[in-house]
Amino acid sequence: MPSVLITGANRGIGLALARQYASEGWRVMATCRDPGSATDLKAIEGDIDLYALDVTSDESVSALADSLKNQPIDVLFNNAGINLQKGMTVAEVDFASWAKTFEVNVYAPIRVANAFRPHVAASDQKVMAFTSSRMGSIEVGSGATSMTYRSSKTALNMAVKVMSNEIADQGIICVLFHPGHVRTDMGGNAAPVLPDDSAAGMRSVISTLTPEDNGSFRNYDGETLPW
Ligand SMILES: NC(=O)c1ccc[n+]([C@@H]2O[C@H](COP(=O)([O-])OP(=O)(O)OC[C@H]3O[C@@H](n4cnc5c(N)ncnc54)[C@H](OP(=O)(O)O)[C@@H]3O)[C@@H](O)[C@H]2O)c1
Repeated sequence: MPSVLITGANRGIGLALARQYASEGWRVMATCRDPGSATDLKAIEGDIDLYALDVTSDESVSALADSLKNQPIDVLFNNAGINLQKGMTVAEVDFASWAKTFEVNVYAPIRVANAFRPHVAASDQKVMAFTSSRMGSIEVGSGATSMTYRSSKTALNMAVKVMSNEIADQGIICVLFHPGHVRTDMGGNAAPVLPDDSAAGMRSVISTLTPEDNGSFRNYDGETLPW
């Protein structure tokens, strides 16, 4: 069966992805900062292993990549993310929080992608998925809130776009997703999309990807989104 590595798999969208891939018989490498307290994740049955991973740490990421050396990863799902300053105006911006947001939402997915590129290149499906956001689209999502979060996802989009061009010759397909406005700790209780529906949509899109889709920005229902 194919394999998937998911970051931030202990709650929200990452947890739904882990549950669904495991229920379909995939080998799931579920990562989170503190596997010891990941009660929901530990309850998932199937071919699933939990690994400690802080995506902002070079040591943590390279240690896991080393310990999984020579294990192909069909889908690398860079899902972990933060939104620290939802209601803050630009004038109120806290630069340390903005930097932290970039660390988690931009630098970390690229760090993880670099570390696990050999594992993905050695797999059959060769997919790197990144959870971006419609809020990072300058064309459709540039509202008057959440400047730090929005700008981090815009930067992620460009970073992944560049990477997708760089590594296209390795057959790797990079895809950026808007997962929907999802009912999670980040998305809030009133969000219209359930984590299971978001995860199912993105999994379905991934299952149909071809090399021509490398570097695309997609909604969880498959629609191509403007940058
Ligand atoms: N929910 C939405 O409406 C929505 C919309 C657009 C995009 N997104 C994106 O979708 C992704 C998942 O969001 P979500 O709604 O599921 O959020 P969530 O419920 O807040 O979960 C965020 C996940 O990221 C993990 N994480 C944060 N910092 C980390 C770090 N340094 N190392 C490893 N893991 C870390 C968290 O782990 P801990 O439990 O250890 O904190 C948690 O597992 C994010 O990238 C988010 O930006 C969400």
